[in-house]
Amino acid sequence: MKELMVVGNMKMYKTATEMKTYLTTLHKLIGADEKITVCVPYTSLHLCKKITNPNIVMGAENIHEEEEGKFTGEISAKMVADLGVELTLIGHSERRQYFGETNLQTNKKIKSALKNKMRVILCFGETRAQRMAGKTNEILQAQVTEGLAGIYENELKSIVLAYEPVWAIGTGEVASTKDVSDATAFVKEVIQKMFSKKAADEMKILYGGSVDPSNAKAIFGVKTVDGGLIGGAALDPQKLLGILRARN
Ligand code: PGA
Repeated sequence: MKELMVVGNMKMYKTATEMKTYLTTLHKLIGADEKITVCVPYTSLHLCKKITNPNIVMGAENIHEEEEGKFTGEISAKMVADLGVELTLIGHSERRQYFGETNLQTNKKIKSALKNKMRVILCFGETRAQRMAGKTNEILQAQVTEGLAGIYENELKSIVLAYEPVWAIGTGEVASTKDVSDATAFVKEVIQKMFSKKAADEMKILYGGSVDPSNAKAIFGVKTVDGGLIGGAALDPQKLLGILRARN
């Protein structure tokens, strides 16, 4: 059976104090053979060094594309990596939607993260309007090819993709298994064209968008899905673990 990767995205929820309690609960509940990743706001990233449980991995939600510079209020991969954080989300649709993040920026961010020995989860997905206009594949192709432009095949082992249709995020409207299967299989074709069949076979793709313990099993049953990126349901550690265990 494929190994599931389940990642919680805290978004702009939980203070460092609340996050500490959350991690303590997760530590108590998680099984010895289970692994969970939680991406947290910058203010909680220092907790990364305090986690004694190897089954809990902490990641960032974003980084700036430059290493340093006159970018007031921004945080670089170098800064995050210095805290011992080994993973970051990149290109989440909320970054694209509310902060105007472009495919070129996601590309630069990936390169900066890799340079700092971090792994990345590149998020991509179409809006409802783009889907209605029949542009889903075109959008996914652009996000993936431009996001991964100039990346070497041997660097792909540090990259996971996350298909997150924008219309399914935080809406309670989970994509159908057919939509998820079509989109992720298409992205595998894109990876094959860009790199190789081996790269496409080995590329992990997560699904995100209104996943909860009740619908996770069906989603994880899709052949080209290797796990989930979880927003709302991840705010409760019991639910996040419920999603991880949904397949059993
Ligand atoms: P959701 O968010 O699970 O609340 O839909 C997913 C995400 O934004 O990564």
